[in-house]
Amino acid sequence: MKNVQPGILAPVPKFARYLCLSLKTDAKPGHALRSLSGIADGDQIVVGIGQPAVLALGRRIRGLRIFPTGFGLGLVLPSTSSALWCWLRGGDRGALLHASRKVVAAVSPAFDPETVIDGFKYDTGRDLTGYVDGTENPKGKKAFQAAIVQGQGVGIDGSSFVAVQRWVHDFERFASIPAREQDNSIGRRKRDNKELADAPRSAHIKRTAQESFAPEAFVLRRSMPWADGMSGGLNFVAFGKSFDAFEAQLRRMVGAEDGITDALFKFTRPVSGSYFWCPPMRGGKIDLWALGL
Ligand code: HEM
Repeated sequence: MKNVQPGILAPVPKFARYLCLSLKTDAKPGHALRSLSGIADGDQIVVGIGQPAVLALGRRIRGLRIFPTGFGLGLVLPSTSSALWCWLRGGDRGALLHASRKVVAAVSPAFDPETVIDGFKYDTGRDLTGYVDGTENPKGKKAFQAAIVQGQGVGIDGSSFVAVQRWVHDFERFASIPAREQDNSIGRRKRDNKELADAPRSAHIKRTAQESFAPEAFVLRRSMPWADGMSGGLNFVAFGKSFDAFEAQLRRMVGAEDGITDALFKFTRPVSGSYFWCPPMRGGKIDLWALGL
């Protein structure tokens, strides 16, 4: 586990900042990424690199692609690919602000900040709808196996692929749904987090039940609520050894398999969607060897 960015496997922090950055026109990001690797420890600052930055370096990372917009039938989802993603994690919002300014300054020769989202832990780890999020996450060795690339060689082993989507909740719409139907939308009872045996097929946990896919589709979710003024929702973050498990789940959620859409879509929608490759660590630093750096 030494060569994994430790923040990926660690529990969700109290506060976080998600920075998405775009590549400046004609910029060569090598120098900026090297500067970033000097300050990012993979724990307080988890780094993900997007396809635009990889291509600008004249490289390829097998398995990294642009977030797909369509999954056949069903809903079309936004794809907002960024070149660089930094997930800043901590327990103090002031420290996170200063850390994010440091990151932006370090990469400023090649990258412009695009979006900054402040995330936080709600209660013991609930989504803002009140449901506990993360219950069925794989743990320990299983989390490692789901999220971390292995057996592909130096510079790639220890890395991870992360899917990131910002979902905006319609709180009024959600409040207008009777409690029983809310529970049926998730497939769990809000009161005690108990799984509902008789949940409809549109229930979110029926759509995404990781063991129900062939092959099984396990991901390591590290989502956190976000809020801005009166708006809020979930910054969905899923790490995987590839994007395959995430895509299999999303395909079912949008109804591409059987025409049944995930009941979540009744009260929440994604407004962004990006894929990043999170490099491994070497000697306490982000290892950019696979990018020729
Ligand atoms: C606003 C968006 C979302 C909300 C509020 C949400 C919330 C939840 C909640 C409350 C649970 C049940 C507890 C748990 O096991 O964590 C759950 C389970 C799960 N969600 Fe989501 N989720 C969202 C989006 C997504 C997306 C986009 C995916 C993947 C494409 C996803 C994948 C999963 C998986 C894999 C499980 C566990 C299923 C199982 O194996 O039982 N979720 N989610």
